[in-house]
Amino acid sequence: MQLIFERPNFAFQISNMQVSQNKILITGATQGIGLEMARRFSALNNEIITVGRNKQKLQELSDSDPNIFPFPCDLSQPEEVIRLKEFVMKQHPDLNMLINNAGIQYNYVFEGGSAITQKIQDEIQVNLVAPIQLINALIPVLQKNEAPTIVNVSSGLAIVPKASAPVYCASKAAIHIFTKSLRYQLPYFKVFEILPSLVDTEMTKGRGSNKISPEQLVTEFIHGLKKDTLEINIQKVKLLRVINRVSPVLADRIMKGVTQ
Ligand SMILES: NC(=O)c1ccc[n+]([C@@H]2O[C@H](COP(=O)([O-])OP(=O)(O)OC[C@H]3O[C@@H](n4cnc5c(N)ncnc54)[C@H](OP(=O)(O)O)[C@@H]3O)[C@@H](O)[C@H]2O)c1
Repeated sequence: MQLIFERPNFAFQISNMQVSQNKILITGATQGIGLEMARRFSALNNEIITVGRNKQKLQELSDSDPNIFPFPCDLSQPEEVIRLKEFVMKQHPDLNMLINNAGIQYNYVFEGGSAITQKIQDEIQVNLVAPIQLINALIPVLQKNEAPTIVNVSSGLAIVPKASAPVYCASKAAIHIFTKSLRYQLPYFKVFEILPSLVDTEMTKGRGSNKISPEQLVTEFIHGLKKDTLEINIQKVKLLRVINRVSPVLADRIMKGVTQ
């Protein structure tokens, strides 16, 4: 089925998402989930702008793959988000997909004191403020191109939190609700959200068990994109959401103590 919406300049059709021939910006593409996304989308004949702080990893990736363009950038710095926007507007005006994947998670206990002040600031900036600012900055570019698409990576912890990372969980819950609301505002965009279960990456090193691989996650993500599943619940998150619907108390009890 095809839907027709008006957007500022012209009417166009929204059809099923194509997973080839896009120009995609992926934040947090130096390792883990973002790196796997960059590799897979390149193999599917897309061009990719990769963003992260580690210049060497970005350069090595782009040296090995002509579809990949590196942009070193620290998203915890608001002025860096502006520099990224200017780079895209000048060098990649054909960008049609933004994947907000970069994220950090700190586990700490609220006991008072200033030791965690910077961590709180960085988690909220990287996980919440930067993606929102980047979306706002890039909408004018995205909407000029075919199939404008935004993908935000949240977490199962956006739905049911754990005890050990309150600010991380709060930032993911906020991006979850933001994504939903943005979808209402931008009916001429595809606005996706990925809610991963526990994935085996640097972020979860030494924590949890029964992790899935980044490859498994990206396979499910691409499947969801093709089917236009706007909220892509990965593996155990599907079950978690069912439990949370039936018994929120049980879901809280299950998740409170997890070491994800
Ligand atoms: N792993 C899981 O179990 C899991 C579960 C649910 C959700 N997620 C979400 O999935 C996303 C990817 O996580 P991951 O597991 O792949 O983590 P990861 O392996 O730790 O990778 C995080 C990525 O974010 C980038 N990044 C961090 N801080 C940055 C900054 N200030 N500026 C620019 N880039 C920055 C890192 O690049 P540099 O270090 O080069 O900057 C890296 O490429 C995150 O949003 C995470 O919250 C993960």
